[in-house]
Amino acid sequence: RPNILLLMADDLGIGDVGCYGNTTLRTPNINRLAEDGVTLTQHIAAAPTCTPSRAAFLTGRYPLRSGMVSSRGNRVLQWTAVSGGLPESETTFAKILKNEGYATGLIGKWHLGLNCESPSDHCHHPLNHGFDYFYGMPFSMMGDCLRWDLSEKRAGLELKLNFCVQILALAVLTVAAGKLTGLVSVPWMPVVWLTIVAVLLCVISHFVGTLIVHADCFLMRNHSITEQPMLFQRTTSLMLQEAVSFIKRNKHGPFLLFVSFLHVHVPLVTTEKSLGKSVHGLYGDNVEEMDWMVGQILDTLNKEGLTDNTLVYFTSDHGGSLESQLGNHQYGGWNGIYKGGKGMGGWEGGIRVPGIFRWPGVLPAGRVIDEPTSLMDIFPTVVQLGGGQVPQDRDQSGRWPGTSHPWWLGAGAHSGHQFLMHYCEGFLHAARWYQRSTGTVWKVHFTTPKFHPEGAGACYGRGVCPCSGAGVIHHDPPVLFNLSRDPSEAHPLTPATEPLFHQVMERVAQAVKEHQQTLTPAPLQLDSLNNIWRPWLQPCCGVFPLCWCSQEEHQ
Ligand SMILES: *[C@@H]1O[C@H](CO)[C@@H](O)[C@H](O)[C@H]1NC(C)=O
Repeated sequence: RPNILLLMADDLGIGDVGCYGNTTLRTPNINRLAEDGVTLTQHIAAAPTCTPSRAAFLTGRYPLRSGMVSSRGNRVLQWTAVSGGLPESETTFAKILKNEGYATGLIGKWHLGLNCESPSDHCHHPLNHGFDYFYGMPFSMMGDCLRWDLSEKRAGLELKLNFCVQILALAVLTVAAGKLTGLVSVPWMPVVWLTIVAVLLCVISHFVGTLIVHADCFLMRNHSITEQPMLFQRTTSLMLQEAVSFIKRNKHGPFLLFVSFLHVHVPLVTTEKSLGKSVHGLYGDNVEEMDWMVGQILDTLNKEGLTDNTLVYFTSDHGGSLESQLGNHQYGGWNGIYKGGKGMGGWEGGIRVPGIFRWPGVLPAGRVIDEPTSLMDIFPTVVQLGGGQVPQDRDQSGRWPGTSHPWWLGAGAHSGHQFLMHYCEGFLHAARWYQRSTGTVWKVHFTTPKFHPEGAGACYGRGVCPCSGAGVIHHDPPVLFNLSRDPSEAHPLTPATEPLFHQVMERVAQAVKEHQQTLTPAPLQLDSLNNIWRPWLQPCCGVFPLCWCSQEEHQ
């Protein structure tokens, strides 16, 4: 039973990586993994945003099955202090491997919820999902952590609060004027109260940026907060140090270590020594720093003599974010020849990510596999390698067709995916059919986002593209592409240009129907009530709202 080291980047585009064709960004350590292992060129995330993609990765199930989606626009969990999160009834591969005697650790980003009812019940905490060690951010990096202009929450909240303040102020002035001129006769008390509320809201809107930093940008070790808010100058070295010491502590193995990088999500926290080193600005510096971290972790494996009995995997949770732009600066990733990006459920750029496996002596070095594979395949793969059983009481979507060896070992073996469904929140946007008899990969789009501005290939100025409502187009008939010939999805096929058009449509429609028959409703963890900030769930090191502490004091 090998050790298992899973490396996941945050928001990294497939086009950012050297071994996937980038010639100017330097990722020598990731490239070396590919040279020594197997590279998957059609490796597909189950969702185009963090929370649902990571839920699917850990459980081997489409996020809709565990309820880790929304039906009304919430793309991810919005705050640490929400009640939604990965349900306790879900089984992660970490839980299974832990039962099989593995030491299981998670270093880095979680973003799958924390508490249900109290600020420390930790019902969704990594330690409640099979990890016996956790160090990192229960939430996620955000531009708001560094008060960037690329703001996820602050800017919107400030606008809303300021709007409320203005309405209240207007009401107060109107009533006061009415009273003073004797036109209205209401008591003074309500006016006083309205004034107090308006002043309070005004103060809150002034401090909302600070509140967000304290509420979400903090670090935990296991069940304790170690740094709130985070001190970003030392975050990179802390993450690295934790990963290295986990490996050293558990070198007698077997261990499962999931390093879930905070890189390369905005605000692109980069240490001094990596700044200005790439030719692609801050984003490039951040990617190169992450690659350096990968190198450091692999060096540790080497030094401890663990390289030959460790399966290493590298991926990204979904495609690069095209909309992460300020002025002429691009702060999001590059998805190469693929259309679209983060947030888009159907277009390839949002879901096709790097996928590399290395296990010297077991996996062939330098092998490239073009068949469709999914991040959900990691679940059955690591479970079986660890000697565990894939749960039989629920629908799993990861594939492991071989019994004793991963399919990517056998020359004639197939990936096991005939169909992959591409969701945007809980909405099915597209489906992929790998037609084995001809070796063709077809993609059928039922719904696509309306780009902004039209034809831009992204929804600039809108954060991410929407999944439903007025911002999408429903296609009837659906739009068909032959991905094998047209990976950039530039040439939609018609019955006139593609003789198989109707046949493909029918086969895919049937597969979608069969898939939908396996779905059972689950409470949606990302919908409004489960996904609003609840002050009483706020983890706080100190006295709320003055949540402040740093490592030294709490170690
Ligand atoms: C390499 O990545 C950078 C940064 O994302 C991007 O701007 C550039 O276009 C990429 N180069 C190639 C050849 O893909």
